[in-house]
Parts: sequence; C-alpha cells; structure tokens
Amino acid sequence: MDKFIVTGGNRLTGDVYISGAKNAADAIIPATILSDGVCRIENIPNISDVAIFARILKEMGAKVRMVNKSTMEIDPRPIASMVAPYEPVRQMRASSYLLGALLGRFSRAVVAMPGGCDFCVRPIDQHLKGFSALGATYSLEGGMVDVSAKQLKGNNIYLDMVTVGATINIMLAAVKTPGLTVIENAAKEPHVVDLANFLNTMGADVRGAGTDVIKIHGVDHLEGATYSIIPDQIEAGTYMVAAAATKGDVVVHNVIPKHLESITAKLEEMGVTVEEYDESVRVIGCDHLNKCNIKTMPHPGFPTDMQSQFAVLLSIADGTSIINESVFDSRYRYVEELRRLGAKISVDGRIAVVEGVKELVGAPVKAVDLRAGAAMIIAGLVARGVTQIDEVEHIERGYEAVVEKFRSLGADIRVASVPEKVPAKAL
Ligand code: EPZ
Repeated sequence: MDKFIVTGGNRLTGDVYISGAKNAADAIIPATILSDGVCRIENIPNISDVAIFARILKEMGAKVRMVNKSTMEIDPRPIASMVAPYEPVRQMRASSYLLGALLGRFSRAVVAMPGGCDFCVRPIDQHLKGFSALGATYSLEGGMVDVSAKQLKGNNIYLDMVTVGATINIMLAAVKTPGLTVIENAAKEPHVVDLANFLNTMGADVRGAGTDVIKIHGVDHLEGATYSIIPDQIEAGTYMVAAAATKGDVVVHNVIPKHLESITAKLEEMGVTVEEYDESVRVIGCDHLNKCNIKTMPHPGFPTDMQSQFAVLLSIADGTSIINESVFDSRYRYVEELRRLGAKISVDGRIAVVEGVKELVGAPVKAVDLRAGAAMIIAGLVARGVTQIDEVEHIERGYEAVVEKFRSLGADIRVASVPEKVPAKAL
C-alpha cells in the first residue's frame, strides 16, 4: 500500500501538462463496444479507471492493446457475452456505462451494481428510467443489474434531475435503437459532448450534446473510429488551485480554457491572477486570498469535482466562506481529514462553513475518495511540516503521474511504499 509524504512550504512554479479527461475516457471506452470495427482512442490518461476498463473488455473477449502510452486500440467484435465480470466492475462507478453499451449492442446487459467514490448514495434510477422508456425491463438481484428488451424503440425521456451518468448511459443505449430518442434535462458536461462527438465519428446521429436537449436518431451500424479525448478540466483545475494555494506561478498546458471558466472565475474572485492562452492558462498566486462562497452546479456551473480542492483554498483565505454542495446529497467526508491539519470547517447537510485560519499543520490523513485525495495533496503543500496521505489508490484512479507532475513544479512530495499489513491470523 503506497503513501504520499508531502512536506509543505514550497511555492509551485513552472509548467504542468494535463492528460486526457478521466470522465471522458470512462464513457468512450465502453462506447467502443457498440462498434463493428476497430477503435483507436488517443490522449487516453494512464490511470487505474482506464486499466480496469481494459481488463473488463479483455475478460469479455475484446482485443485491447496500448499502441503507445496514451493510445488504446480496441477491437470489440469478439465480445460474445452481455455479462460484465463482477469483480472489476464493482470497483468503479463508470462501469454502469456497460449497461447502456451492452444493451445497445445485444439488447441485454448483466452488470454488477456500480462502485466508485462512495461519498454518498449514488442511485441509478434515472439510468433505469431511460432504459425502460426505450422498451427494456430490468431486475436487480445478487448485486447484478439485468436489463433486456425484445426490441428497443426510440422514445422521449425527461430526466428528473441533471445527471451525467444517466445522460451518457441513455445515449449509449439509444444510438443503435431504431427511431428518435430525445433526452430532455440532459447534462451538458464537456465529457458528454466528447462522447457524442466520438459516437458521431463512428457514424451515429447524435445532435444537441452540450445543451439540455439531446436528439438521437438510431442507426444500424457504427464503424470503428480514431478519436482523441479532450483534456481533463478537473485535473487542470486541481493544479490551478495548488498553484494558488502555494502562492506560486504555474502554466497549465493542454487545456481548453472555456472548460475552466467557472474555476477561473472563482480563483479571480479570491484575488488570484489567471491569464488565458489558446491551450493553456497561467495561474499567479496572491499574498492574501479573499473569502468567497461556492455553490456546486451541473456544467457550466461550478463543478462538484472541484469542491474539496477549493475547500483547502478557503481554509487559508481571509474570513469565512460558505460551500453549498447542491449536486450530491453530501460530499464532505474529506472535512474530517482536513480538520486534522487544523482547518476550521463545520458541516450541516449540503452546507459547509469554512473559517479561514492562519496556517495548516501537517499530520497523517487519508484519501477518502478521488478528489478528496487530491485536496489532501494541496493541503500538504501548504501545511507547515509533513503530511502523510494514506489510501492514495483513490487518487491514482483519476490523476496520471500525480507525484511526478507535482514534483516537476517543485513540490516536496514522495511515495513511501508500506508493506501490506499481514493479518494477525496469518502470522
Ligand atoms: C459523474 O458521476 C462523474 N463520474 C462524477 O465525477 C461527477 O462528480 C458527477 O458526474 C457530477 O458531475 C463519472 O463521470 C465517472 P450524476 P455520476 O449522475 O454520473 C443523482 C469524479 O470525481 N442521481 O451527474 O454518478 C446523484 O445522486 C467523479 O471524477 C440520481 O438521483 O453523477 C447526484 O445527486 C466523482 N439518480 C446527482 O444526480 C440517478 O439515476 C448527479 O449525479 C443518477 C444520478
């Protein structure tokens, strides 16, 4: 089990290069199941979510190989089963996309209930509502979701709330479903648009992605395609916050500045300077961070996946700030860890009140989920002394070469490998 050891006090300076978007890869890799040819996906991030998906597709019979460190080639044609393997599937939330992809190809899918970041209950009722609207029936037993249809048929679906997962899953089920499917109240995240662009590159007919109404005309056949994934706006935002927290001066390369607008706006509100270029942003920290209030919203609002990272910044700002987590029922499991470093945060349901403190002080903490783990790194960078972060496998699910990238900016961070605890009975 690895740990990260972070010693605070260094200003981050220099250049960091952003990888492909985890949440786009998590949608596009299962989407290749729908193809009747070989797909080549470029700018794939080297993260454990991608490795798990590769293992799932291989175990289902697909041919999967890395052409180079960021290009994956997938030939889904040998897949003959609509059952996804239980163990790897339950490790991540995105495996729920296998339901839509397998249903779209085989008119049946049997997939374990999804796992992933467990910061709160994460139902899939809207995914199932969409599949039912297309004519499928489903059962939930033995930890498996079994969805099937005699004949899928396009239909109108009005989502009860904006949900990225349901929007993506219904798109996957609908692209080869005869007729017109209309998804209303659809999610508009950049990775929803990226998936639609990939599907259309394969020959699908998906229109309106990026707005709240997506129209899909089913087609009989999808070709193999070559496609390059968009940069990860949350990885980029994480390094932007780290630069601001350490009063640094960092250029974040390989970004789409438009995808970062809500993050940039909040940093500028706090007094940070952000210079935008075509494919990069420069973040210059300031001596005194202004307090500010944050409400997480579906895109283009402030992203919930940046909430924990900003909580660190607000913890060392002047004054008291309010965070309103309006996307998930609760996403504050990291607060207990941040308090160990001296943060003054009180939580009541979806609201967190953050009282700025003069300094944080290093202590042993753990990564309770992917983005919370990234927030612990940022906290360690600004804390006085040494911060040890446990359970870093959560961080490695979504951040490629995170230690190397932070070290390249001057962070004092290293990996300590700790032998697996041998259970007493085994001694
Ligand atoms: C995706 O999760 C992302 N994961 C999350 O990123 C991200 O936080 C989230 O979208 C919001 O942007 C992936 O893309 C793999 P939702 P998802 O469906 O699809 C409720 C990260 O750190 N809901 O948009 O699970 C749900 O409980 C991860 O990269 C239902 O009630 O999120 C939540 O309150 C963490 N029923 C809200 O909708 C449903 O059927 C939004 O969830 C589906 C969702």
